[in-house]
Amino acid sequence: MTLPSPYSAASLNMADKVCIVTGAASGIGRAIARQLAANGATVVIADVTTEVIEGGMPTAALIARDGGHAHFAATDVADTAQVDALVAHAVERFGRLDVLVNNACVRHARPLLELEDAHWQRLLDVNLTGVFRCCRAAVRQMIQQAPEGDVRGRIVNLSSQHGMIAAPGDLGYGTTKAAIDYMTRQIATDYAPHGIVCNAVAPGKIQTGAGGRAVDPAVLERADRRTPWPRLGHPDDIARAVLFLCSDLSTFTTGTTLMVDGGWMAA
Ligand SMILES: NC(=O)c1ccc[n+]([C@@H]2O[C@H](COP(=O)([O-])OP(=O)(O)OC[C@H]3O[C@@H](n4cnc5c(N)ncnc54)[C@H](O)[C@@H]3O)[C@@H](O)[C@H]2O)c1
Repeated sequence: MTLPSPYSAASLNMADKVCIVTGAASGIGRAIARQLAANGATVVIADVTTEVIEGGMPTAALIARDGGHAHFAATDVADTAQVDALVAHAVERFGRLDVLVNNACVRHARPLLELEDAHWQRLLDVNLTGVFRCCRAAVRQMIQQAPEGDVRGRIVNLSSQHGMIAAPGDLGYGTTKAAIDYMTRQIATDYAPHGIVCNAVAPGKIQTGAGGRAVDPAVLERADRRTPWPRLGHPDDIARAVLFLCSDLSTFTTGTTLMVDGGWMAA
C-alpha cells in the first residue's frame, strides 16, 4: 500500500463516502448522521425505528431537507440476518462501505442483585453482540474493497466513560462498554494489515432527549460535579469527534478510545 503524501489535501470532506450509522434515529446517532451528511457523506440510518426521542422529523428526512444524502434501513442490530442484509443492501445500492459507526444501545440500569437474566441478555445482545455482528459484516465487505490511500474502511464504536469507571447501580451497560473498548483494540490489531481502521469514542454525560434516569436530578448533579468543563455535553460534541475519526484527517490512529467527556476521566 502506498502512503498518501503528507501534504495532500487531507480534510474532513466525506464526499463519496458511504457510511452506516446504527441507532441514528435519535440522540447522538442522529447528530453523527447529520454531521457526516453535512460533510458530504451518503449515510445509511440503521435503526429499529424512525421515531425521534427528542422530537422532530425522522433523521433521513431531516438530512434530505438540509440537502444531504441519507437512506433509512430498518435494522435490529440484535439480529444477525438483519445486520448482514444491512451491509449487503448498502453495498448493492451505493457500491462500497467506507464507514461503520456502531452507536445503537439499550439501557437497563440495575445493580447486580436486581438484574435479571433476560435484561442482562438483552443488554449484551444489542450493546455488545450487536457491535460484533456489525463489525463482522462490515469488515467482511471492507477487506475486499480497493484501498483509498492506505485505508479500506473505518469503524467507530460508541463506548462510554462508564466502560472505565463504574456508574452507580448500573452493572450491565458499563460491562458492555468495557468490552467494546477491548473489541476495538482487537479488531484494530487483527485487521490493520488489511487497511481497516477501528477506534472508539467514549462520551461523558451528553444531554439528549432521553428521559428517565438520563434526567434524574441525582444523576445530573453527579455528572455536573464530575465534569470539569463548565457544561454537560451536546450530541454534536460527539459527532464532531466521530467525524474526525471517519475522515482522511485521521491517520495512524487505530485501536484507541477517544474520550469526549468534558474532562470527566481526567479529573
Ligand atoms: N447520552 C450519553 O450521555 C452517553 C454517554 C456515554 C455513551 N453514550 C453512548 O452513545 C450512544 C448513543 O447514546 P444516546 O444517548 O444517543 O442513546 P439513545 O437512547 O438516545 O438512542 C439510541 C438509539 O439506538 C436505537 N436502538 C436501540 N436498540 C436498537 C437495536 N436493537 N437496533 C438498532 N437500533 C437500536 C434507538 O432506537 C435509538 O435511536 C450509545 O452507544 C451510548 O451508550 C451515550
